[in-house]
Amino acid sequence: MGFLDSYPADLAEWERDARLVKRGFVHPWRSHVGAGNGESFFDALVRDHLWPDSVVFDVGCGHGAYTCALAGGCARAIGVDRDPEVLELARELATERGVGNVEFRPLTFGSGAEGALAEVPERSVDVFVCRRGPVLGRWLDLARRLARPGAVAIGIHPTGPAGAVPPWNSQLPASLRLGRVFGYDEVRSWVTGALPDGDQRVRLEGCWWLDVPERFDDPAQLYARLAGAANAETSYADVKDDLTKLFDGYDGTLELRHTRLVWKVALHS
Ligand SMILES: C[S@@+](CC[C@H](N)C(=O)[O-])C[C@H]1O[C@@H](n2cnc3c(N)ncnc32)[C@H](O)[C@@H]1O
Repeated sequence: MGFLDSYPADLAEWERDARLVKRGFVHPWRSHVGAGNGESFFDALVRDHLWPDSVVFDVGCGHGAYTCALAGGCARAIGVDRDPEVLELARELATERGVGNVEFRPLTFGSGAEGALAEVPERSVDVFVCRRGPVLGRWLDLARRLARPGAVAIGIHPTGPAGAVPPWNSQLPASLRLGRVFGYDEVRSWVTGALPDGDQRVRLEGCWWLDVPERFDDPAQLYARLAGAANAETSYADVKDDLTKLFDGYDGTLELRHTRLVWKVALHS
């Protein structure tokens, strides 16, 4: 297992389950992510709020591996997503892993259909988690209805300060170049902009920026990372020589910044 032990949970999960990749959900890659990264911090923060009798609601749960992982620490975990294909895989994973207290439901936030979630009573949810799912403004109203007094919402978004795009980006083959990186302030405003003015019952309780290096020492792995993010059609064979030359120019190691914004909102009723 080796490097996976210190790997952020979201990345390690893809490496451990080849079916996720086979179904085309992501390209896995190997890299070295510094300690204290945002994903690990987010996971620890979420787990600090879990109790054996908690009800957890995972907004934009995707293939549900994280929802299943959280289910072990609470009474009921509900994952919702707009994509029926990922929900099908989520149910499969839950059955395979023997997780009985998790359920996955289709829901598209922002579509006006949020009231249709009859299986989840109002004032019954303790923790809303949003790991790279839809922005808070799309689901805050629903969360306020479903929140038990004292509930919290905790989220994480990839982000980056100005300069998070590495200097070698322009030397990459065009199809692999990183696009725009949203700055910390802009991503923070996705959260704060959703909070009602002057209503102390719903307020930002914490906001953390985490920025650690993610190092690549193999051109094939950087290709996997960039091609996945860009949905590039280019094959590795097409770009291997260019990438190898780029690595040679940087002593064999290229560094990306693994930047995340983690936030926590209190939902008092
Ligand atoms: C980047 S994936 C993250 C999935 C999962 N939370 C994880 O960490 O592995 C974002 C997910 O949010 C879902 N999503 C995005 N916008 C949505 C919306 N408006 N309503 C419901 N789901 C949404 C997508 O379908 C996708 O599965």
